Amino acid sequence: MSKKVLVSGGAGYIGSHVTVELMAAGYEVVVADNLSNCDLTCFEGVKKITGRDDIPFYQIDCCDYVSVDKVFTEHKIDAVIHFAAFKAVGESVSEPIKYYSNNLVSFLNILEAAKNHGGCNVLFSSSATVYGEAKDLPVTEQTPRMPAMSPYGNTKTMCEDILRDVVYATSTQDAVIKGIALRYFNPIGAHPSALIGELPRGVPNNLVPYITQTAIGKRECLSIFGNDYPTEDGTCLRDFIDVTDLAKAHVAAVARMFEGRMKKGYEIFNVGTGRPVSVYELVTKFEQVSGVKLDYKFVARREGDVMALWADPTFANRELGWKAERTIEETLASAWAWEKHLAE
Ligand code: UD1
Repeated sequence: MSKKVLVSGGAGYIGSHVTVELMAAGYEVVVADNLSNCDLTCFEGVKKITGRDDIPFYQIDCCDYVSVDKVFTEHKIDAVIHFAAFKAVGESVSEPIKYYSNNLVSFLNILEAAKNHGGCNVLFSSSATVYGEAKDLPVTEQTPRMPAMSPYGNTKTMCEDILRDVVYATSTQDAVIKGIALRYFNPIGAHPSALIGELPRGVPNNLVPYITQTAIGKRECLSIFGNDYPTEDGTCLRDFIDVTDLAKAHVAAVARMFEGRMKKGYEIFNVGTGRPVSVYELVTKFEQVSGVKLDYKFVARREGDVMALWADPTFANRELGWKAERTIEETLASAWAWEKHLAE
């Protein structure tokens, strides 16, 4: 019988892409989502892409332990991939209680339910934000984490530590939990089918949805935050990773857990391309790929932004047998196709 994976936050941007790739790899998937930051558009898209109308879906809030426990009672869960969390960096600064309470409690409930149901594999969606303004680039998994720049970032660091401690504690108990934290760099793009993609509510905080919404005419002008950084063109450098490539890293990580290939009970992987791209370069490439001339202006730096951050993905490449494959052009074209699909 194939293994069953619970994807919490599975109706969202990354969760929906991961669901597609897990099913393509032959896993059974159970999706849980409270739809607080998305609607059912992507879940419907997942059903179309996979041709499966029978994916179990629980509209639950993972902050409610009873609801989480019910999923584990009704399904024998072999692994959980936990995405259910708030992710707006700016909002987390003004509403720290909301962020700490949601992001920590939901993860603790997942871990507690996993433990109460005999233990399982847990994959946590962490972020490169834990590296802060790193001195040495690119960053490896050994690069020290820096104090987070926001409550959102803090919740990522804290959840990594919670997972590490739970793995350690349960290693000598009956219900063993094994854990992997994947540190994502900047996920962008959409599924090649253009049936699922990023669906920001309100004004996008992130660069690519802002670019595509400007190109389609939903936003008047893109503001590029800072062109006075000590980089080649003065704008920030990031490691933009295609969301399908990112999703495949989850499949590789889950396979490593199921096949007993983990070298430690808790492992961390950088999930990036290793290729730094500047904000300005990305804007220019988008114009080339889409054939749309973007309205943009340079404005002041955004508070909390780091100048440059990109991954050394060697460890993930070697240990997971995974590598980011899509070019930045392909990825930008997919983001543009998705934006156009939304406008149809
Ligand atoms: C942020 C979070 C990261 C999170 C990621 C995805 C921090 C410091 N960063 O990354 O943890 O995983 O979002 O949600 O916590 N930019 C513009 N104009 C815009 C928008 C962005 O110039 O309208 C620039 C930013 O200044 C930055 C780059 O584009 O240099 C990327 O920004 P963004 O997409 O928001 O991602 P990060 O801030 O890198």
